[in-house]
Amino acid sequence: MHPSRRPLIAGNWKMNAGGADGCELAAALAKSLRETGDVDIVIAPPATALAAVSNELNKNKSSIAVAGQNMHPEDAGAFTGEISSSMLKICGATWVIIGHSERRQLLGESDGFVRDKVAAACRAEIRPIVCVGETLDQREAGQTLEVVAAQVRAVTGHLGATPGYGVVAYEPIWAIGTGKVASPEDAQQVHSHIRGLLNEVSPELATSTRILYGGSMKPNNAEGLLSQHDIDGGLVGGASLQASGFTKIAEIAQGLAQQAKTH
Ligand code: PGA
Repeated sequence: MHPSRRPLIAGNWKMNAGGADGCELAAALAKSLRETGDVDIVIAPPATALAAVSNELNKNKSSIAVAGQNMHPEDAGAFTGEISSSMLKICGATWVIIGHSERRQLLGESDGFVRDKVAAACRAEIRPIVCVGETLDQREAGQTLEVVAAQVRAVTGHLGATPGYGVVAYEPIWAIGTGKVASPEDAQQVHSHIRGLLNEVSPELATSTRILYGGSMKPNNAEGLLSQHDIDGGLVGGASLQASGFTKIAEIAQGLAQQAKTH
């Protein structure tokens, strides 16, 4: 964490809490997250619950922002099952997760498709959280930095147009949902590499872009990760489905943000 960047903690609910349970979770978070004013908080419910969750947060006068988990680059048309940036906006979303590894791996989303989505999100004024990360095989073959570089370079042109608007999330695939977390040092190494790639576009892009860590972030390992110089927050999956766990992570970020300010 660095004092010049506001930490961001995002909860990726994935294919969970898509109905009344999502509203209950949002209401609980609206209450428990009143004291984390130095941290940006974003939650990404499934599309079925986006509008209801946004309403619930508004009703509770919460500053928590809402994100889509995906969007199509086109604004309308014959794309069965897809959701567009304008639809996300209608539902109250101001952010969108793009290129999550589950979509890259299971649905074959390419770097090019991810780039088109990032471009469309920026055009529509929805802030993208772009996910990048290597598989276990790639890590073991020593290809981590190269794989991540290709994924990041695919989107830096668009992120560079408005430095700080978009966010990058480094999520090593082998750490997602597995309970195997990257060590703070290993994560920091990749984060610093990503910042270097952003710096190739402009120093402003490098210093203003928040780079989140994702992959089994929990209350018991968040502090080590968030203390790293180039880790500006977290993209939290499993632990974001319990108000208590997600709140704890946000409180850890809040504590570190306050420390960073005073030092
Ligand atoms: P996890 O998921 O925290 O359950 O590992 C993170 C993510 O996929 O965004």
